[in-house]
Amino acid sequence: MKEILITVILCATALIGLRLAAPKAEPQQSVIEAIHARRSIRQYKDTPVEDSKLMEVAKAGIAAPNAMNRQAWAVRVVNSREWIDGCTAAFVPTVQGTPMGEHLLTPDFKNMFRNAPAVIFVAAEPSLFAGVDCGIMAQNMMLAAYELGLGTCCLGSPVPFMNSDAGKPFLQSLNLPDGYTLQYAIAIGYPDQNPEAKPRDESKIQFVK
Ligand SMILES: Cc1cc2nc3c(=O)[nH]c(=O)nc-3n(C[C@H](O)[C@H](O)[C@H](O)COP(=O)(O)O)c2cc1C
Repeated sequence: MKEILITVILCATALIGLRLAAPKAEPQQSVIEAIHARRSIRQYKDTPVEDSKLMEVAKAGIAAPNAMNRQAWAVRVVNSREWIDGCTAAFVPTVQGTPMGEHLLTPDFKNMFRNAPAVIFVAAEPSLFAGVDCGIMAQNMMLAAYELGLGTCCLGSPVPFMNSDAGKPFLQSLNLPDGYTLQYAIAIGYPDQNPEAKPRDESKIQFVK
């Protein structure tokens, strides 16, 4: 009996030691490494995104620098499948037979947000730098999502639809403050692809001495 007890204690101690020594599942990346590793994701798993993770992403968004700390933005997180499917059902007839329809309505099409199970909308107050503030916030959210194992894709394509007659009920349901304009949507979910980095043109950068 005593031997069994000692064996159990030794095994447990060894397991705890192994656990502490085990490398982390995800290698730690610096912010710069994360900036270069993030990609726009256009295929998602059906797995829903936890509210707590969506909240963490949204909070990273509003931590962004913004002109005079006016926080001239409104952030709306949608993870209702009913809302996403309803919006998509209204959207599809508006693009059928158009180049955008041909581009988007592929056999694997599930929804207008690149088939993501959740979407974050960002709208700007009508003030000088609000658009810039909202842009900066987008990258904060996409990098935070990346750290949480989520994929994202910034989407401008839903904006004209949301501002159209067909999209208006959905825009109104976002309950934006008066005068705010929708800037973009961010599709968000667990990624189901690992795309290559798109090249960047470093000649866009010039030092002025
Ligand atoms: C303001 C904005 C609007 C975008 N709109 C769309 C869109 O409507 N559909 C889409 O698939 N990707 C959209 N994108 C994603 C870009 O296509 C993508 O960021 C770009 O090709 C670079 O690829 P990367 O994000 O993987 O580096 C948008 C990105 C931004 C910043």
